[in-house]
This record gives sequence, structure tokens and C-alpha cells, in this order.
Amino acid sequence: MKKILVTGGAGFIGSNFINYILSNRKDIFIVNLDKLTYAGNLQNLKDVEQNPNYTFVKGDIVNDELVSYLFQKYEITHVINFAAESHVDRSILGSEIFFRTNVLGTNVLLENAKRFGVEKFIQISTDEVYGSLGPEGQFEETTTLQPNSPYAASKAAADMMALAFHHTYQVPVVITRCSNNYGPYQFPEKLIPLMIINSLNNKKLPVYGDGMNVRDWIYVIDHNKAVELVLDKGKVGEVYNVGANTEKPNIEIVKLLLKHTGKTEELIEYVKDRPGHDRRYAIDSTKIKNELGWVAHHSFESAIQDTIKWYIDHQKWWKEIISGDYQNYYQLQYSSHS
Ligand code: NAD
Ligand code: DAU
Repeated sequence: MKKILVTGGAGFIGSNFINYILSNRKDIFIVNLDKLTYAGNLQNLKDVEQNPNYTFVKGDIVNDELVSYLFQKYEITHVINFAAESHVDRSILGSEIFFRTNVLGTNVLLENAKRFGVEKFIQISTDEVYGSLGPEGQFEETTTLQPNSPYAASKAAADMMALAFHHTYQVPVVITRCSNNYGPYQFPEKLIPLMIINSLNNKKLPVYGDGMNVRDWIYVIDHNKAVELVLDKGKVGEVYNVGANTEKPNIEIVKLLLKHTGKTEELIEYVKDRPGHDRRYAIDSTKIKNELGWVAHHSFESAIQDTIKWYIDHQKWWKEIISGDYQNYYQLQYSSHS
């Protein structure tokens, strides 16, 4: 039995991971440690809360005493660190919490993995650590790290600490660096859910700059299957890029979402650009495909329609979010962009 400390399991990718893994595997016990920040939501985990192979602990990964208690109490054999402050725009509004959670928090987890010993420590990183591409080329695992936003810099720092713990103390670290995810339970501040929800509400769709920044999209379940493969077969000390070769300019995504929600392009509003906005991401996943046999099973064309349908069918989920504290963030972020 693998006894896995999953951190940030009440967020978008972490909750999809827990729901997916517990419905497919009987050999895994999960301790979900989540601080329940604005982005954490236990509604995402309703289907697993009674599962005997699952337990939830509300807490902060920076809390060394709590983390060390959990390692001992549950005899943790593996760590998957999803917990993070994850939104670039918020990191531009204020960077301190990004440093605290993403760097110090990862360090606390690594120290405990060193102290108690684990079979594997998976650090969930991002393609943003590589910086921005010109019109050609893709990020490879050997690409130099050149993070541009405070968020990306904090994730790069965490990656460096993880690799240093492997090099110095032989902590069995593996890093995944994935491209932009979409799918159910994504918090409404991110491009795809924000545009779907605004469109359903007949609100303006705020496109930064000229709308020609490119992101490389992957369905969240394809990302999580890659994490599962890394858990089972990933080689320690290695970095694996994960992406589905689906590069799209933002404006193309926005127009597609408008079309599928039956709205006109009159809702599009070009607003002031994100400061330091990375122009293009594209990720080369040859290594995880060749070495671990990973493939992306979902096409963008069908998975984006499933995602839109999910937001249409789960209005209660996002209405509770957008009626709360999120309103204050939305005002702050978009009043400074117009
Ligand atoms: P999210 O913001 O939806 O969820 C983050 C979760 O972490 C929340 O449940 C939050 O409560 C929890 N958390 C935050 N600070 C914490 C702390 N100090 N202690 C414990 N829990 C804490 O993020 P996401 O989009 O699900 O991203 C998950 C991970 O994947 C992050 O590490 C992110 O950097 C990485 N990633 C995200 C994407 C993407 O497209 N969303 C792509 C590549 C990598
Ligand atoms: O590449 C992986 C990263 O993808 C993850 O590490 C991050 O956690 C995740 O948030 C995401 O970062 P991005 O900054 O790429 O995602 P976001 O959804 O914020 O923005 C996607 C693109 O859309 C980006 O070019 C900015 C643009 N955008 C975004 C918002 C919220 C707009 O034009 N308007 C908006 O209102």
C-alpha cells in the first residue's frame, strides 16, 4: 500500500487527481493536506470523503510541526506536492505569500521527507519556470530556467531546492513540469473558466494585450495520468515535461468559448496587458512519452466541450465562489486593467 501525502488536494488539479486515483486504484491511501485558501474547496471532493482510503487534514505545508506529525502518524511513503499559490496575476499584485507557500512550504516538505525517508517525492512544477518562447521551438527538460513572474520564480526556486535535496541528501525527488491545464473544478480566475462564466453571465471577456499570447493546453486528467505514471515508474532525480501539443493564441480560445456558449464576439474587451506577460509557451513531452509510455488521451476539441458543459451543469459550484470574496479580487484585478 502506498501511503501518499497529497498537498493542495482541494484545489483544481489536486482534487481531480484524488478523485481519479481513488476511483481507479485500491493500493493507495491518501492524506490530503490543504490549507483551504481561497482556491481550496472541499465541494470538489464530495465523492471521496467517505472513502476508507482517504483522509483530509486542514493545514499549512509551512507548518513543520504538523507536517512532521502527519509523516509519523500515517507512515507516509510518498509525497505529491500540488500545494501552491498558483495564479500569476495574484503574484503580480503581491508576491510574499507565493514565496512563503511555494518556496518555504516545499522546503518544509523536503526536510520531512529527508528526516523520515520516503520512496518518492513528486514536485508538481510548471512550464512557466522556463520563461517565454519566441515564435519557434519548445521547452525541453534541459532548457535553462528563466522564470519571469513572481509565481514562476517561486516555482523555479522550489524546483531547485528539490533537486538540491536529491543531490545532497539523496531524497528521491522527481519533478513534473506541465503546461496549462483546463477541466472541471478550475477556479474562475483562470482564463478558460473566467471566460466561460463571463460569457454565460453576458459580462465582458477581458483579453490582455493583443490576445496573441500562446499557451499550450492539456486536459487535467491527461496531466494526472502523467503524475500517476511518474508515481509508479518515474526515475528519481529526473524532470519530466508534460504537455499535449495544443498551442493556441488566447483570442482563439476566447472566440471558441463564445461560439460554444452561443454568444457574440461583441463581448470581447481588449484590456491593458499583464505586466511582464510571457508571450508563448510550448512544451516537448518526448521524454515522458518515450521513457514512461505516457500519451494524452483527450483531444482539445472534445475535452473543451466537456469542460464548457461541466461549467453549465455546475453553476451552483461557481456561483458560490463568485458571490464571495472573489468579487473583491475581480474588482482589484480588472479595475487596474481597463
Ligand atoms: P489551485 O490554486 O487550484 O490549488 C492550490 C491548492 O493548494 C488549493 O487547494 C489551496 O488551498 C492549497 N494551498 C495553497 N497554499 C497552501 C499551503 N500553504 N498549505 C497547504 N495547502 C495550500 O492550483 P492548481 O491549478 O490546482 O495547481 C496545482 C499545482 O499544479 C500547483 O503547484 C501549480 O503550480 C501546478 N501547475 C498548475 C498548472 C495549471 O494550469 N493550473 C499547470 C502546471 C502546474
Ligand atoms: O503554464 C502553466 C501555468 O498555467 C500554471 O503554472 C499556472 O498555475 C496557471 O495559472 C497557468 O498560468 P497562465 O498565466 O498561463 O494562466 P491564466 O489562465 O492566468 O492565463 C492564460 C492566458 O490568458 C495568459 O496569456 C493570460 C491570458 N488572460 C488571462 C486572464 C485571467 C487574459 O487574456 N485575460 C484574463 O482575464
